[in-house]
Amino acid sequence: MRVWSIISQKGGSGKTTLALHLAIAAAEELKVLVIDLDPQQSAERWHAIRQRATGSKDDPSIAAGPYTKLPEMIRVAKKLGAELVLIDTPPKLDKAITAALTPATLGIIPVKSSILDLQALEDCVRVVEFAKAKAKSVVVMNAVPTGRNKDASIKEVARYAGRHELEVMPERLSELSVYAQGLRSGRGVTETDRNGTSAKEITALLEALWARDSEGTEG
Ligand SMILES: Nc1ncnc2c1ncn2[C@@H]1O[C@H](COP(=O)(O)OP(=O)(O)OP(=O)(O)O)[C@@H](O)[C@H]1O
Ligand SMILES: [Mg+2]
Repeated sequence: MRVWSIISQKGGSGKTTLALHLAIAAAEELKVLVIDLDPQQSAERWHAIRQRATGSKDDPSIAAGPYTKLPEMIRVAKKLGAELVLIDTPPKLDKAITAALTPATLGIIPVKSSILDLQALEDCVRVVEFAKAKAKSVVVMNAVPTGRNKDASIKEVARYAGRHELEVMPERLSELSVYAQGLRSGRGVTETDRNGTSAKEITALLEALWARDSEGTEG
């Protein structure tokens, strides 16, 4: 069972967006569980909307609770035969982030190119190092501008990540309104924008993360 923890010290960097689109895409072939450790429980609220929109479908499944319950939730996920668990975490809560990184086979740090996101990377690195999870963590550039600022934005994130010796995935997500739109109706871009750029980005990212997660192959 692979466990991917999506973490960031910065609110609004795209943790929930990334978790849900990846989960929906992966659920086409795998048994997927999303664990929502955010006290705001936006992923859980979203799941209720998805169930209303898709009938009784439970792909992905979702569980929510405080980070202190995470070991138990992971045990249950294993027992139920989950193949991929995606953990959505709250920002700024070091204890929840550390707890989420402990069972993780991969840590995913979404970063937008705003200066606040970039500065927050520093705090993120601190938590990742504390959890001894740096080697299994990667940065995913999110909301990359599609216009002429694209290259400068990519370079800037690469520069900050490089400074902290963090690996950056070459697969990234553009700033596209479809990422927000679909989730409002409980759907992922691989459903609402099947042949579009966003679905291609999510599929490519999912495949690359799967390949990057070498620990997960051990079972
Ligand atoms: N690639 C993207 N393109 C366009 N909008 C995006 C993209 N990624 C995220 N957003 C938007 O940015 C906002 C924040 O995203 P999201 O809620 O996923 O962040 P978060 O890290 O989970 O936030 P929080 O820390 O508050 O839980 C949302 O309105 C979302 O729709
Ligand atoms: Mg969130």
